[in-house]
Amino acid sequence: MRISVIGCGYLGAVHAACMAKLGHEVVGIDVDERKIADLSAAQAPFYEPGLEALLQDVQETGRLSFTTDMAAAAGSEVHFICVGTPQKKGENGADLTYVDAATLSLLPYLAPGDVVVGKSTVPVGTAARLADLVAEQQPLAHLVWNPEFLREGHAVSDTLRPDRFVYGVNGGSEDHTAVAVLDEVYEAPLSSGTPRLVTDLPTAELVKTAANSFLATKISFINAMAELCEAAGADVTRLADAIGMDDRIGRKFLNAGIGFGGGCLPKDIRAFMARAGELGADQALTFLREVDAINMRRRTRVVELTRELCGGSLLGMRITVLGAAFKPESDDVRDSPALSIAAQLQLQGAVVTVTDPKALPNAARRFPELQYVENIDSAVDKADAVLLLTEWQEYRDLDPHLLRDTVSSPRILDGRNILDPGKWRSAGWQYRGLGRP
Ligand code: UGA
Repeated sequence: MRISVIGCGYLGAVHAACMAKLGHEVVGIDVDERKIADLSAAQAPFYEPGLEALLQDVQETGRLSFTTDMAAAAGSEVHFICVGTPQKKGENGADLTYVDAATLSLLPYLAPGDVVVGKSTVPVGTAARLADLVAEQQPLAHLVWNPEFLREGHAVSDTLRPDRFVYGVNGGSEDHTAVAVLDEVYEAPLSSGTPRLVTDLPTAELVKTAANSFLATKISFINAMAELCEAAGADVTRLADAIGMDDRIGRKFLNAGIGFGGGCLPKDIRAFMARAGELGADQALTFLREVDAINMRRRTRVVELTRELCGGSLLGMRITVLGAAFKPESDDVRDSPALSIAAQLQLQGAVVTVTDPKALPNAARRFPELQYVENIDSAVDKADAVLLLTEWQEYRDLDPHLLRDTVSSPRILDGRNILDPGKWRSAGWQYRGLGRP
């Protein structure tokens, strides 16, 4: 099939490459010339495992091209809208500027029978509004909502082998023409057993925000338990292991630590609350305010614990922060709890050095006032305390004996509860986890 993908960020670039991998002829369109130049040269404009190899692989087939010219969408039967919906400045709601602009600039190129497929995360009601715009311009085209559930760091495999497809179509019927079109787009994953659900437009939009809100709630639940464990002298990691064995609860997303960040969960729960308010259903989501508050408290807690670890004052303390990305296997620093903690510590008088295997250039753009060191041995050299804030594998594998000889004082705060406290303590370290004795 001929497919256009509008927006080539974390979602769109991966989606375009994966659609070409599935055998379609794909054009990726973005207003950012640098991004398009990188992608045209089969270079990923951000770090995502497997993406660059996939771009090279599909580019050789000639099925994938990139451009800044929206006119290239003409002739495609399916148009995926994959642009960002960030948080509005100074408000909780989602900024729909990019979704609206992408849709409006696509309209002149729509032909009868075309299907416009929204993948961006949007406030419920957006799809119906955009469907009207499409219908006004081209009554024989369709707009459907097909939310994306990919995780950064696993984006390629999540796109090629998702755990489900949700198609939101006007009326919610299996017989809608666009259902067959999407089935053709996703023929390969569908034939290998990926389930798909057809819903109406608002349900499809809500599935996405509900899923992210549930995940955020699960993380904040366990972080609230961490607060309690600290007060009671219990261990939240064992608590999570034990409750997670109940398969109604499940162990995934029950890792207590410095909390969630990134370009999705934080802004999605806020936009969800804002939208609920507009719909007169704000009470239904007031609990998300608490979810957000628990999450933000983690960052303050880590600053306080670091102060304790340093003997009561941060002034002049040399603190090394391991990890700047909001999660491992990503160079994304949007709302990264690690970086936000690093910046807070610096503001409170510590001398902070940050290291990360992939995210330093992005981190330096976001917080130019922090010191960044690529090499981990140099980063920890003469540190008064080390904070592990993003759980990259290489930090999990650190040898406490070797590290002890480099630092000035062997104190470690394990912000992700991934180290073995016994091992670190017996190597002479003062170890602090979150929600652990
Ligand atoms: C999230 C969702 O997981 C995806 O399904 C969704 O498609 C995506 O948002 C999106 O809306 O586009 P992502 O932001 O890539 O994906 O990251 P997650 O893996 O969900 O992690 C989010 C944050 O939660 C990270 O900061 C992570 O460190 C933190 N986290 C995760 C915890 O603190 N504890 C956990 O147990 C799990």
